[in-house]
Amino acid sequence: MKEHNTIVVYYSFEGNTEYVAEKIAAEMKADLLKLKPRKEPARTGLKKYFEGGKSALKGERVKLEKFDVDFNQYDTVVIGSPVWAGTFPPAINSFLFSVRLKGKRIFLFGTSASGNDAKMIEKLTDRLNANNDVAAELSVKSPVTSVADEDILEFCETIRFYQDDEV
Ligand SMILES: Cc1cc2nc3c(=O)[nH]c(=O)nc-3n(C[C@H](O)[C@H](O)[C@H](O)COP(=O)(O)O)c2cc1C
Repeated sequence: MKEHNTIVVYYSFEGNTEYVAEKIAAEMKADLLKLKPRKEPARTGLKKYFEGGKSALKGERVKLEKFDVDFNQYDTVVIGSPVWAGTFPPAINSFLFSVRLKGKRIFLFGTSASGNDAKMIEKLTDRLNANNDVAAELSVKSPVTSVADEDILEFCETIRFYQDDEV
């Protein structure tokens, strides 16, 4: 069977996406990369939603702390993002601008208050290079607790299924 190298890349402002990312990485024995923007919205109040939502809707980018990862060594990339105003936040946008993921198998997951991340995931899929094979996706409702573990492990099973199927 072919060896697969997997990395889980995520942004998390309030810990929910982080929970899912860490679970997947542990289960898949994958590497983990947390995107760290130099600037984030206000932590509290309506300002949080206003600033964050506006930046996401405008498709803004934000400077990320440098990460030293060679994406050439991975054939599978799992990307996790919170939903901000129905789309993905600037940190994810910046990440997608900064790396070349062409030809890699991509798995996407999101977390959101509504628990329905389909729209954000669709936008993320569009934003990815058309040559990427987005194989499966997972939506998790926040606040994320161990109640989500079963769905997360099922998602990992799906990732493995694709990997094992590859010739
Ligand atoms: C700026 C901002 C905008 C948000 N917009 C939405 C939204 O449009 N729909 C939704 O269901 N949840 C929305 N949420 C809730 C988050 O998607 C949800 O709490 C998510 O799990 C946060 O992930 P994190 O804890 O990893 O940052 C928003 C949260 C923030 C901070």
